[in-house]
Amino acid sequence: MDSIKIFSPATVANVSCGFDVLGFCLDSIGDEMIIHKTLEKGIRITKIKGAELPFETEKNVAGVSALAMYNAINPDCGFDIEIYKKIKPGSGIGSSAASAAGSVFGMNVLLGNPLDKTELTKYALKGEALASECEHADNLAPAIFGGFTLVRSVDPVDILQLPTPDDLYVTLIHPQIEIKTAEARAILPKQIALQNAITQWSNVGSLVHALHTNDYDLLSKSLSDVIIEPHRKQLIPYFDTIKSSAIDSGALGCGISGSGPSIFALTKGEKIAKHVEKAFNSVYSKTNIKYYTFVSKINTQGIKIL
Ligand code: HSE
Repeated sequence: MDSIKIFSPATVANVSCGFDVLGFCLDSIGDEMIIHKTLEKGIRITKIKGAELPFETEKNVAGVSALAMYNAINPDCGFDIEIYKKIKPGSGIGSSAASAAGSVFGMNVLLGNPLDKTELTKYALKGEALASECEHADNLAPAIFGGFTLVRSVDPVDILQLPTPDDLYVTLIHPQIEIKTAEARAILPKQIALQNAITQWSNVGSLVHALHTNDYDLLSKSLSDVIIEPHRKQLIPYFDTIKSSAIDSGALGCGISGSGPSIFALTKGEKIAKHVEKAFNSVYSKTNIKYYTFVSKINTQGIKIL
């Protein structure tokens, strides 16, 4: 096999309480990429559709992660990468992670899978760092492993796969404004109050327990963020109204997806997810901000060959 087409999914990072550690994978939106194995050595980005991104390998997220892997294993071939972006950069649903994960996943398959998912995450982190100026793996891990993941450590990379309750759905609204992850990180405080830290880590622990025990009530109680959301929500128009509309419509919880501007709500069952989507539409259709909404199941497979 000399060419491969892949689907690299969008993801929701943080999941309210788990800044930089928790994430889950979406199945209704993702990028497509085609990777070709070539006789000519080196990594080239040969096509980009759907977004204005640099073709220079060293300036492109997919190129940087590909180069990190390529230089480490030094294969006797090269790779051409075509990128078909469906996830808008700066949308808060893991656009850079999808690109960074896609190139290393595709190269690995074409080389006969010499690397495991943890090693792929390690190289993809280099691309993610180019976009957000920080090595965080909470979008990469769910894109590469699927389902819910917890990043125990990035150095060394250590990813835990968490169970996904069967009936869990997500409703997402993407207001069409761009928030750069690096800027959304720059507004965060460098120090936090001990009481807030206690609240946050108790919620991370209980959310993980809720996923293991299929406990939707506990999951709902755990979906709270007292550290990041109070600072970032000002970047997102009508965030509080959207969040109240989700809770009033029966969502288990609602929060900022990654660094925003997308907002996610988790629900038990598709019917409630659709109610929440209607509620999101009724809030944003009254504004002059362009947006789109969608409902998705949690994608337990992650990145895949098409
Ligand atoms: N954990 C990262 C952040 C995710 O919130 O900055 C960025 O998508």
